[in-house]
Amino acid sequence: MAEQEQQDASGGVLTRGDAEGVTPQGTAKDSLSVTDNRTGEQYEVEITDGTVKAMDFRQMKVDEDDFGLMAYDPAFTNTAHCRSDITYIDGEAGVLEYRGYPIGRLCEESTYLEVAHLLIYGELPNQDQLNEWIFEITHHTFVHENIKKFVEGFRYDAHPMGMLLATVGALSTFYPDAINIDDETERHMAGVRMIAKMPTLAAFAYRHNLGLPYIYPDNDLGYPGNFLSMMYKMTETKYEPDPRLERALDVLWILHADHEQNCSTAAVRSVGSSQVDPYSAVAAGVAALYGPLHGGANEQVLRMLERIETTDNIPDFLEGVKNRDEKLMGFGHRVYKNYDPRAEIIKKHVDEVFEVTGKNPKLDIAVELEKRALDDDYFAERKLYPNVDFYSGLIYEALQLPKDMFTVMFAIPRTSGWVAQWLEMTQDEETKIARPRQVYSGARQRDYQPVADREQKVDPPTGVGATTVIDPAAGPTPSEGR
Ligand code: ACO
Repeated sequence: MAEQEQQDASGGVLTRGDAEGVTPQGTAKDSLSVTDNRTGEQYEVEITDGTVKAMDFRQMKVDEDDFGLMAYDPAFTNTAHCRSDITYIDGEAGVLEYRGYPIGRLCEESTYLEVAHLLIYGELPNQDQLNEWIFEITHHTFVHENIKKFVEGFRYDAHPMGMLLATVGALSTFYPDAINIDDETERHMAGVRMIAKMPTLAAFAYRHNLGLPYIYPDNDLGYPGNFLSMMYKMTETKYEPDPRLERALDVLWILHADHEQNCSTAAVRSVGSSQVDPYSAVAAGVAALYGPLHGGANEQVLRMLERIETTDNIPDFLEGVKNRDEKLMGFGHRVYKNYDPRAEIIKKHVDEVFEVTGKNPKLDIAVELEKRALDDDYFAERKLYPNVDFYSGLIYEALQLPKDMFTVMFAIPRTSGWVAQWLEMTQDEETKIARPRQVYSGARQRDYQPVADREQKVDPPTGVGATTVIDPAAGPTPSEGR
């Protein structure tokens, strides 16, 4: 059989019609035959691991001057942007595994720090390694005193996620050697420092909002216990965390540690691909997590439950969702088209926490809301199920956390996932600077007009707070004046 060869866009050769592994039509089985109807040309594109390379389409042109075919995928809904060995999700089946270990098993048997080691180094640590890992993390929880001053500079009501975002980014200026991302020790130390300091930064932000003195880390306590101490310690000489709350927090943190290529992780990889230092890359992850469609959803769930007020109002609320006046926050997921396994595990731990803290009355609304939504065709047809954020906020509220802190509680454990994914990216030979393409749909070759000849073609916004509606004679706006 005649062998037909084509150059792929990166210079590789795609072979067609080899004797073995061919279809009756003479095409290789792990390939895609494409006919470009614009030209009648036929191409064969390799399929590896259920994917085709977008660059293999670049060779498909209408003529020599044509740039070549591109894939158009806003929001990366069907584009794998990396290979990864870290987290496996089967969204249809509701399966989540870290490095091959089912999430349920890790929640039952492991601790967050063990899981952080697993995510970053690929294996659960043995006892000696675990002791060393805990020692390292415990001895890097302090932050430079200037970070404290930095936090003090925020307004009293600054959103703690905004403070966290800024302080994580600021860490890069305290550890300038972290820019040496080719140095294994620097990479390791950046990971250790971020996992160790994130709870400290989070607790400082919380105490700042309350006007309370910042509490320094206590090395006698475990990772979640130390966090609770930095959050809640008052006049007692030693804070003694309730072991049930410590364990519940640890489980929540295991559940939030990684979730493959979600918005914030993709942000960390994308920003990190420019070879910036890892603190700056993780700050990008914190920024992405802040958004209400991502980590900010847990905060929105509680606001939603508050608005619903009583179970009697649920039917009206769900009608509002179906009419698209509302969104059922904490429901739906880009990947899970089944019950999010994390939501299932959290739901089981809700009662344990309430045993210590007392029941959060909003639980009844949440349970009823879930039940009614799952029984409703609108949600069933769209495969909308509770996600990780649906129940986590109820636990955070029971821990007396203000809603502003909920996403911070997500950022603390996700740090190990961001670090693991960043490390994997730096070691991947296929990594290049992330640089998507666009389909340009704007004007071309316009005639430039001097300012005096131009007509006004764009109307500025006129809503409350817009610069155009401010009377200069009235002095500074409230936010500028404070
Ligand atoms: N409430 C009501 N309808 C919803 C919801 C929801 N929470 N989520 C999705 N839908 C509907 C959409 O309107 C759409 O319906 P249509 O096809 O009739 O237009 C359909 O379900 C598919 O939804 P998409 O928006 O296409 O799904 P996508 O994968 O883009 O979005 C997302 C996923 C952002 C999570 C979405 O489900 C959502 O906004 N959920 C609420 C916010 C939330 O809980 N976010 C946390 C996610 S978990 C995490 O980030 C940690």
